[in-house]
Amino acid sequence: MSYVKIEGGNKLEGELFLQGSKNAVLPILAASILCRGKVMLHHCPDISDVRNLLYTLSFSGVKSTFKEGLLELDTTDAKPYRFGPELAGKTRGGVLLLGACWGRFHEAGMAYPGGCVIGARPIDLHCRVFRQLGAILTEESEGVMLRGCPAGGRVMLSYPSVGATENAVLAAVCATGTTVICGAAREPEITELCRFLNSAGGRIRGMGTSRIVIEGVNGLYGTEYTVSGDRIVAGTYLAAAAVTAGEVCLCGTGQVCLNGILECFRKMGNRVYREGDSVILRAPKRLRAVPGIVTAPYPAFPTDMQSQTVAMLAMAEGESCVTETVFESRFGVVPELQRMGADIKRIGRSVFIRGTEHLHGATVTATDLRSGAALVLAGLAAEGETCVAGYEYIARGYEDICGTLGRLGAMTVVAE
Ligand code: UD1
Repeated sequence: MSYVKIEGGNKLEGELFLQGSKNAVLPILAASILCRGKVMLHHCPDISDVRNLLYTLSFSGVKSTFKEGLLELDTTDAKPYRFGPELAGKTRGGVLLLGACWGRFHEAGMAYPGGCVIGARPIDLHCRVFRQLGAILTEESEGVMLRGCPAGGRVMLSYPSVGATENAVLAAVCATGTTVICGAAREPEITELCRFLNSAGGRIRGMGTSRIVIEGVNGLYGTEYTVSGDRIVAGTYLAAAAVTAGEVCLCGTGQVCLNGILECFRKMGNRVYREGDSVILRAPKRLRAVPGIVTAPYPAFPTDMQSQTVAMLAMAEGESCVTETVFESRFGVVPELQRMGADIKRIGRSVFIRGTEHLHGATVTATDLRSGAALVLAGLAAEGETCVAGYEYIARGYEDICGTLGRLGAMTVVAE
């Protein structure tokens, strides 16, 4: 296992350009299977989740070249493939291949998906969506098989699951007739998937609301698209400046929706403002506690910023409370922060944080992508050296995190 070594205590200052969004590009990669021809994606992040999904797609006959943020895909010779556990387990984004492959080939098969360990992460809502669109679905111990021709209809989601909404869109875009998705998730990444599909000939409206309407088309064609900046990575780098009493200018964020995140940072005493295509954060000497942060589906505070926020509040002045309502086991960061001297108590789905002035360096372990990022933040602010084991998790979503933080003056390095 690789780890990130951090020498804490440096104030982070400078300018960064924001990488492309992981959660936008993964569904777009799955969607490319529906486009007969060439797809060009600009501003694609070079992260292991993308590389893993490209590898998985290659078994389905999708060819790709990826260089300096430009990803070219050719799906002309794509063919059905039953993705086994070794492929499905690589990334949670892989579950979206079910909807996309079923939409194109009228058959799809996959073992149960992987991804970060942040709860049970079942796929019952996905399966219900497929059934509502006419799938003959068989669930076996080793995975799910879909057959039949997707037929437009009414899809009712009992919870606004991001992935299930995306799978509904992917399965319905080339279905016969019109589909109405009620109770859809409203995350910006869903809007982005729909925009991408529309650029390839899809007829989707209502994205960004809880009612998405899709008129099925006969097929999609090749297209060119630019992936937007990653709102969670943006939040993480702004947080890095905040925990070190620094100042950062994050370029390429003009169109990036930072709802919930910036309000929270302001409550902690940071000065945060937008200027042209950038967001600028100026941190106070010490952050202030925030009494009640609750994660929930968009537009509320994102669960993907929860761990980083807990790390920030561990050093803030006063007492904070953070409640996680999206994933049941997403507090893997808490015992690790305690090893660094944090005063945090967990009761059920909430953590109560009494901010300490200083954390100290320690050897800690990432349990998922965002807890890894959070521990790096804690290490940047801590006294002495911190080793965060599990760099592999962080590389799933952050492009060269050490190089990027290094440009702001951090002393971090990846080691074996
Ligand atoms: C996506 C994001 C992830 C983010 C999450 C919530 C990607 C690749 N990942 O994950 O970064 O943290 O949205 O914003 O875009 N659930 C079920 N049954 C299902 C599906 C989901 O019970 O069939 C539950 C999950 O266990 C979880 C909750 O619903 O508790 C939210 O999951 P969902 O919105 O589906 O998240 P993902 O699409 O997996």
